[in-house]
Amino acid sequence: MKINSEISATKPSPHKCFPKSKPLQALCISSIILGFLILIIGIILIALFGTIPCSLIICHSKASKCINHPFRAECICDFGYQGDGLHYCDECGLSFAEKNLKIIGGIDAASNSWPSAAYLRFFYEGDVAIQLEDGSTASVYVKQGGLCGGSLIDRKHVLTAAHCLQAMLKVTYNNKEYYSKAKINSKFPSLESMYLIFLGINDISALTSSQAYSIKKIYNHEEYSGSTLLNDIAVIKLDDEVVLNSNIQLACVPDFSKKYYPTGVNIKSWVIGWGFTNQSAKTLPNLLQNLNVYIYDPSVCSDVGSEVEKNWNSQICAGDIVEGKSACNGDSGGSLFVLDSVQGKNKFMSVGIVSYGNGTCGGVDNPQIYTRISYFGEWIQSKKFS
Ligand SMILES: *[C@@H]1O[C@H](CO)[C@@H](O)[C@H](O)[C@H]1NC(C)=O
Ligand SMILES: *[C@@H]1O[C@H](CO)[C@@H](O)[C@H](O)[C@H]1NC(C)=O
Repeated sequence: MKINSEISATKPSPHKCFPKSKPLQALCISSIILGFLILIIGIILIALFGTIPCSLIICHSKASKCINHPFRAECICDFGYQGDGLHYCDECGLSFAEKNLKIIGGIDAASNSWPSAAYLRFFYEGDVAIQLEDGSTASVYVKQGGLCGGSLIDRKHVLTAAHCLQAMLKVTYNNKEYYSKAKINSKFPSLESMYLIFLGINDISALTSSQAYSIKKIYNHEEYSGSTLLNDIAVIKLDDEVVLNSNIQLACVPDFSKKYYPTGVNIKSWVIGWGFTNQSAKTLPNLLQNLNVYIYDPSVCSDVGSEVEKNWNSQICAGDIVEGKSACNGDSGGSLFVLDSVQGKNKFMSVGIVSYGNGTCGGVDNPQIYTRISYFGEWIQSKKFS
């Protein structure tokens, strides 16, 4: 018994912080308190700078606004400059070629005079299922392409219409036409893989692979409706950053803070695209076309899909109801521009996206509906940062 108690008495204290000597004990306790304080201060600092991360970063010199998000700062390029706000804010609306806009009516654009124009190409090949009238389904092999327009709005993003990115196929089966969505397969493993963006081009019959940009992510508007075509807008994030040059530049978009733009009626504007040049045309033009149109009072569009719900806060009525010229199939997704002052310079600003018409292109008293870009400023910004 005695031996046992001796052994236990010489056992070291299980807790280092309670040594025998008083000074050591004090030192030990104070170091615990210090460690605890450092931990608390650290947590406070992380919480603080987690809520105000803007105080920790330096935005680009042309980005005077920074928005704090939890643990993420968002630098906003000043109006007239577009980019990620951190590494780059590029001046928008630059053009190195004279535009030929004097003539009313769709004419060939002067070569590369709209350097923000994007050509969006759809291509799909594979089996799709179609629903037959008797309720059964059939599998049909489809090889199909399509085109739309778009606008480069910063080095990594293209703005277009959501209806351009639905991978919709027109399938002929037993001499009947059906619509079906393309299904992903081994060759086309994602929606993104069915599309390609071409930039810096004028003539679509002479595309080269160096002008092609693959797509990282497609953001169709969450409330896009295929039946009303409300919220017909999409942001495309490219895989790689675009190098800007005399043939590739950014389209100016309206001031982030303006929800309704432009105001007023009968505003002279321009629409561009590689779509059909008239209703009876069987082939697409090779060269980019530009056409002078006007932004009208919404009442002028009351007959355009009269049964379809409209929202004039988020849509624009435009066309040429006198000369009877308009955008047509293939122009969808492309921009409607107005001339305005951007930071003291007169520039073309992208204010609308070609959305839909009454089904017939051109003709007097036949205006068309465009998506109003200003309404979606915050939405566009949020997609650029997601
Ligand atoms: C329609 O477009 C086609 C092809 O671009 C062209 O050859 C034809 O002259 C045009 N017709 C009219 C009436 O403008
Ligand atoms: C569309 O408008 C044109 C020109 O006014 C007209 O000729 C055509 O019949 C209209 N189409 C439909 C489907 O309403």
